[in-house]
Amino acid sequence: MASREDVDLSVEFAGVRMRSPVGVAAQAPFAPPSIAVDKMTELLLKHVEEGAGYVHTPYINAELAHPPNKLPTGRFMKAEVKRFGRQGMWCTAESYRIEMRLDAGLRLVDALKKRCPDDVPVIANIMGPGAEPDAWADHAAKFEAAGADIIELDVSCPLPATALGAVEAYITEELPEHAGVLLGDIPKLTAAVTAECVKRTGVPIGVKFSPETGFPRLVAFAEQIEAAGAKFITSINAPLSVAPPDIYNGGKSLYAGLDANPISPALGPWTRYLCYRNIGTIALFVPGIDQAAVGGLVEPEHVVEAMMLGAKICEFSSGTLWKGWSLIRQANAFLGKYMQQQGYSSLDDFRSLGVQYIMPADLVDWGLGRLAAKVDDSKCTGCGICCHNLCWAMSLDKEAELAVCDEDLCGTCALCVTICPEGAVSLGAAKKPRTEEEIYAAVADDEEKRLQP
Ligand SMILES: Cc1cc2nc3c(=O)[nH]c(=O)nc-3n(C[C@H](O)[C@H](O)[C@H](O)COP(=O)(O)O)c2cc1C
Repeated sequence: MASREDVDLSVEFAGVRMRSPVGVAAQAPFAPPSIAVDKMTELLLKHVEEGAGYVHTPYINAELAHPPNKLPTGRFMKAEVKRFGRQGMWCTAESYRIEMRLDAGLRLVDALKKRCPDDVPVIANIMGPGAEPDAWADHAAKFEAAGADIIELDVSCPLPATALGAVEAYITEELPEHAGVLLGDIPKLTAAVTAECVKRTGVPIGVKFSPETGFPRLVAFAEQIEAAGAKFITSINAPLSVAPPDIYNGGKSLYAGLDANPISPALGPWTRYLCYRNIGTIALFVPGIDQAAVGGLVEPEHVVEAMMLGAKICEFSSGTLWKGWSLIRQANAFLGKYMQQQGYSSLDDFRSLGVQYIMPADLVDWGLGRLAAKVDDSKCTGCGICCHNLCWAMSLDKEAELAVCDEDLCGTCALCVTICPEGAVSLGAAKKPRTEEEIYAAVADDEEKRLQP
C-alpha cells in the first residue's frame, strides 16, 4: 500500500497546477509586515514550508497607497460563548492603513515567484479603484506583468463598508476608490469589472464573494461572473457584524484598549456554514466554475467537507492565525490519511460527492411514518430535556426514570436526537409503519383527549 506521503494531493485549479488543495487565504496584517515586503515574504514562505499548495498576497489597492509614515492599524477580539466555547474572532481595522502600497505589492509578487516552488502558484488579491472596469484591468495587468499566476478580485473586503459614508455610497452606487464589498454586493458592476480584467489579461481571473450576498442572489451573481469569463469564485470573505457590548460596564466596547465598538468583521468557526452555503449552492446551480473555499475552516476535516460540497481548493485564514502555520501540514497529513482509509486515489474521487444530496426541501423524503425516535435505555439518564420543548411525543416515565416516545405521535423531527446530552436517542425503524394520515389522526385524537375536562 502507498504510504501517506505518496498520496497524490495535486489539483488543477483555474487551469493552474498546485501541489496541494490546502492554501493560505489573503490576509492583510494589522502590523508592520504589510509595509515591509521582506517580512511579508518570509511570513508567507513559512506557510509554503508547512506544505501550502498556493499563497495569496494581501489585498493591494491601485490608487490609494498606504499613507506614508503611518503604521497599519487594527484590533482583534475573541468571540466566544460561555460553556459552548470559541466561536471565532472579531477584527476591525482602518482599511486604508492596512492595504499594501502598489509598489510593495508588486515587489511581493516578484519575491514570492522567485522563491515558491513551481507547483505553488502565487495568487494576487487585488482591489481596483471604485467600479471602473478600465482602471481595474490596468491594475490587474500590472500583477500579471509582476508574475502573478492567478488574480483574485477582492470585491468583498468588508472594511470599506465600515467607513464613514458607506451606506450612502452603496445606495447611490457612487463608490469610493477603495470599494470592497460596496462593489461586490452589486453584481452588475462586479461583472463589468470582471469582464474587463478577463479581456485585458492572460492569467485566470476569479472573484472573491462576500457573505453579504446571500442565497439565492449569490447564484445569479455566480452565473454573471462565469459569463464574464471568470475562472473561479472564492467564498467567503468575512461577514460584518457588531460586537456584543460589555453588559457589566454600561455597554462599553469589549475590544482591548478601544473606547469604540466599530462595525466590524466577525470571522472564524461561526461562519463555516455561510461558506458551505456558497460552495454548495454554486456547485449545484453553476457547476462549471472552479471554487475556492474559505471562511470558518479551522480543522483538517473541514477541508474534506468543503471539497465534498464542491470546492477544488481550501484555505485557512483565522484558523492559521489561531492555531499557527502547522495547521496546513496537519490538513495535508489528514487528507493523505483520509484518502488511504477511504480508498480514494485522487481528490477527484471524493470532490463534490455531497452535491447530489443538496436539494430543495420539497424534494426531500422525510421518512414520516417509517422512522420514529428510539430511546436507548442504557444511555438515558431521565434528565427530561427531550420532554421540555416543542415535542409532543416524548414523556418521562417517572417510575423508570427514562424518556419514552409515543410512536403514534412522533413526527420524526429528530429534535430529541439533536438535543439529548447523552446521545441516547436516535431515529430507527418504527415498530409499526404508519401513513401520514394515521399520524395526523393520532395527533388530532390525542388533542381531543387532552381537551376533555
Ligand atoms: C487579518 C485579516 C486580514 C485579511 N485580509 C484580507 C485581504 O487582504 N483580502 C481578502 O480578500 N481577504 C482578507 N481577509 C479575509 C480572509 O481571507 C477570509 O476570507 C476571512 O477571514 C474568512 O475566513 P476565516 O473565517 O477562516 O477567517 C482577511 C482576514 C483577516 C483575519
